[in-house]
Amino acid sequence: MAKRTQKRRPSFLITAGPTREYFDPVRFISNPSSGKMGIALASASVNRASHVTLCLGPVASPKIRGVRIKRFESAVDLLRLVEREMKTHDILIMTAAVCDFRPSSFLRSKIKKNAHKLRLRLVKNPDILCRLVRRFQGSKKFFAGFAAETDNVSRNAIKKLHEKNIHMIMANRVFKEKRGFSTDASQIKVFIRGETRPFCILKGEKKDIAKSLIPIIIDKYALFTESCLVRKR
Ligand code: PMT
Repeated sequence: MAKRTQKRRPSFLITAGPTREYFDPVRFISNPSSGKMGIALASASVNRASHVTLCLGPVASPKIRGVRIKRFESAVDLLRLVEREMKTHDILIMTAAVCDFRPSSFLRSKIKKNAHKLRLRLVKNPDILCRLVRRFQGSKKFFAGFAAETDNVSRNAIKKLHEKNIHMIMANRVFKEKRGFSTDASQIKVFIRGETRPFCILKGEKKDIAKSLIPIIIDKYALFTESCLVRKR
């Protein structure tokens, strides 16, 4: 009888939710991400993965059997967390809405409200995906991002796919027709590196989008690891 090769299930590291960038003990800048998209992806991947870790920002904790949850608050926390966790995972899916900027300083005492104006100086946060791709270059790690766009959705997403040098990106229009941040439903366009046209469009409840997206990611990951083997021969 022909021997069937059993493929090893990949492991998933998924990030979800907003980052909070504090400038005093009670105030921060952030965004309206609820974590729903990433939580849906973590649930959908449990039965198809060897293990799943969900890096979750400051949102309510979901109960998902089989998913290990790690918490983060700021972009810098998240960078440290994924740098550590990526060593033991195959696929990173970044749905976290990372604040691109953070206040340049943090005051340990609450800022008094006597002044009429408060000037906040912001500095750029590290690009987590870019850092991770560079750090794990040459390994068989697979990187998928999400692009939250208000206009020129496809063009901007493709630009991010190339600039961040990741394997795939899911573009979603935010703030239109109640889609994107905090909603239960969404619409995403999937772009794969090396392919000129969008791979597919998924629309509906985030839970259903996640159920369709996970098998696509697993297929693309399998193709990527095969191509790594061919290059090695
Ligand atoms: O959480 P929900 O309420 O369900 O909403 C879902 C969502 C709208 C947050 C999600 O679908 C989504 O679009 N997530 C990505 C948000 C985002 O930060 O997009 P971006 O276009 O700014 O970034 C592109 C990619 O780079 C993202 O994968 C992001 O995680 C990553 N990034 C961004 C900034 C940064 N400093 N480092 C990063 O790695």
